[in-house]
Amino acid sequence: MTMQANHDTDGRAYGHIAGKPDEDLVRCGPGTKGGELLRRYWQPIAMAEDATSRPKLIKALGEELVLFRSAEGEVGLLYPRCAHRGTSLLYGKVEEKGIRCCYHGWLFSPCGTCLETPCEPSSDTKNRVRQPWYPVVEKFGMVFAYMGPPAEQPEFPTISLELDMQEGEYLVAKENTSGPNGPHPKIAASNDYNWFQLFDNFADPFHVAITHYAINGMQFTESFGIMPEVETKYTDDGVVNRSLRRLPDGRLHQRIAQVIMPNLHCTPGVTDEDMSYSSIGWLVPADDTSYRHYVLYRMGPNNDAIANLELLGFLKDNWGPKHGRPFREWSLEDHQNWQTDYASQKGQGDITLHSEEHLTVPDTAIGMARRMFKKQGLAVASGKSPVGAGAGVKRLIEVKSGNAFLDPQTHKMIKGITPEWDSIG
Ligand code: FES
Ligand SMILES: [Fe+2]
Repeated sequence: MTMQANHDTDGRAYGHIAGKPDEDLVRCGPGTKGGELLRRYWQPIAMAEDATSRPKLIKALGEELVLFRSAEGEVGLLYPRCAHRGTSLLYGKVEEKGIRCCYHGWLFSPCGTCLETPCEPSSDTKNRVRQPWYPVVEKFGMVFAYMGPPAEQPEFPTISLELDMQEGEYLVAKENTSGPNGPHPKIAASNDYNWFQLFDNFADPFHVAITHYAINGMQFTESFGIMPEVETKYTDDGVVNRSLRRLPDGRLHQRIAQVIMPNLHCTPGVTDEDMSYSSIGWLVPADDTSYRHYVLYRMGPNNDAIANLELLGFLKDNWGPKHGRPFREWSLEDHQNWQTDYASQKGQGDITLHSEEHLTVPDTAIGMARRMFKKQGLAVASGKSPVGAGAGVKRLIEVKSGNAFLDPQTHKMIKGITPEWDSIG
């Protein structure tokens, strides 16, 4: 109990001026450094099942767009305001060849060409207008869009997870939407704050021992309670961390996690024994204070990453006081009683104030990833292509993360599917 007022005059909150975000990290709109960088890559903007005959409003990189699938099966992504007099195509009717505006019936193909103007069927208006549009690719159960300058459009990339698939293996994508914007209660991250806060988190191997163990007890797996020895290095297109933990049984466990420019992460399975292929995830800002999170898993007979995740507690009683319910239904007290990545990141604010931070040695990877992102943003701003992008470039996105057991003396891999640490970078 404080019996006497403290008269220390140092460091008081009086007169504190709130800090500022680093604009080059957090902004996603057109013309911003981050936004122009993100636009140089194919980005998932929806799950494939979201593209139907019912038009859907999509928000990506600060832009509103209408997504639909024509009766012929082609996916369209159009600027919502009809080129005629601006009625939203969200109220359009989807037909065989495209979407028809409800007001005067102009029909637009999935790539915005005007096919019909029924109030003046014989005019050449349709040849003169084009509804603004973006190219899309449907792949891995997701719809990807390229929202950058047409002259810089890269080929759709290859992801190493899709190479050398073994019999019985397959890829599956999931959208992680447990937050206020979605009903999916299974995975523990919401998405109503700036996307870079989760990107930072994927480069943060130290919070694991605190948020996911020390604060509430075990959230994922017992060994997360051990503070890891961490090494960090750059790859050609991102940053990798390895966390080494000596387990109580004497085995040496290695966990490699990876962030990839500009907004990808590869996060290994959350049990020590999970030697499956890592997943790869995209954090796609809807706007500056919300994002969508798409994750692609390589599954197979020996690799049931999603089932592992669910079994591990996302749906079990040990996943907090309100397990299996979206965060929007949690009270403040629930979040205070059972802190998650959500509390940690949403707790930084809708957009964190970078100028107030004190980055220290355990934040090394975060600093590296931010520097790389900003460097890439600057490259775009100065007319260069960022890593793995540019006109016609076919990028190979290499997943290097995963779990392994190492020889405690030599650090050579005994069991695991990741490359040897020394060969990475
Ligand atoms: S406003 Fe769309 S057809 Fe007239
Ligand atoms: Fe976490």
